[in-house]
Amino acid sequence: MIKTITWKNNAVVLIDQNTLPQVECYVTCHRYREVIAAIKNLTVRGAPAIGVAAAMAAALGAAELARFPQARFRRNFYLVCDEISKARPTARNLFWALERMKKCLEEALRSGKPDPVGELVAEAKCICAEDIESNRRMGKYGSILLADGDKVLTHCNAGALATAGYGTALGVIRAAKAAGKKLHVYVDETRPVLQGARLTAWELKKERIAATLITDSMAGFLMQQRKIDKIIVGADRIAANGDTANKIGTYSLAVLADVHGIPFYVAAPLSTIDVSLKDGSTIPIEERPDTEITFWRKVQTAPAGMRVYNPAFDVTPARYISAIITEKGIIRKPYRQSISNLLKG
Ligand code: MRU
Repeated sequence: MIKTITWKNNAVVLIDQNTLPQVECYVTCHRYREVIAAIKNLTVRGAPAIGVAAAMAAALGAAELARFPQARFRRNFYLVCDEISKARPTARNLFWALERMKKCLEEALRSGKPDPVGELVAEAKCICAEDIESNRRMGKYGSILLADGDKVLTHCNAGALATAGYGTALGVIRAAKAAGKKLHVYVDETRPVLQGARLTAWELKKERIAATLITDSMAGFLMQQRKIDKIIVGADRIAANGDTANKIGTYSLAVLADVHGIPFYVAAPLSTIDVSLKDGSTIPIEERPDTEITFWRKVQTAPAGMRVYNPAFDVTPARYISAIITEKGIIRKPYRQSISNLLKG
């Protein structure tokens, strides 16, 4: 099993997603600021994995504050959480995980628990374990949407690497394979950071799932050629009406899927849903450094001084989404209603 993120000997161990696929190595973070840096520089990425990393960063931060008296400990813990919340803006899971950690601390203090830091560490580990469990459930529900022989397109990396393990969109593909269905996965390379080429392709190869890598701009042609039966992606934030932010390029795929009558599925845990946003228009979209586009690693790929626009995510309107697969089941349009029912249930 791929170990994306683990709590080990009072430290956070992350698989380094920047060195994959050439080198599989691990980064150990002993301090919360090291985890923040790892989130910012994409050592750990993918919405659910960012959420787990944020929770573990908060636990590390709490351990760093343990020497303070209670009032100061509490005040500084909130400051630590604020700092972590600024690591990346789009993935809802990061903010969700920090809220859970704050709630855990309040509960520990209210009930006079002797070791609040221990409670926070336990909560972070629990968020990690729950994420894997959610993904397995999503896989079970979602796999019924995939038929034997399907050719399935995915974008970015919504696999084990993007989560605590197993994956959301790739989890559904894994579960379908485990159920005996033969699939062929088309992997968008996912410009500019190549999460598809570097990470999804790596995961699929490791699991011996048949896959073909394409560049992002080839996807429409494949749909036109009837080479794609279904599309499945993950999500960074889903608004109350089902509008979904995911890796840049997802929106184009969804519109093309609509034109070609191809089902377009989103797989995401409830922790990705943000009902405080009535639609996708106010989802914060991260802009990443120009050099992600003007350089590939150390190789310059555009003229020096070229003006660049580099939004890391786009928003797919809910009307293009055939179904959203969650750990509590599959929901369909109208999403405002189905999301609200799901969260009540
Ligand atoms: O910039 P990234 O690599 O963090 O973006 C990741 C994505 O867009 C994923 O598709 C999304 O987080 C879902 S991961 C289960």
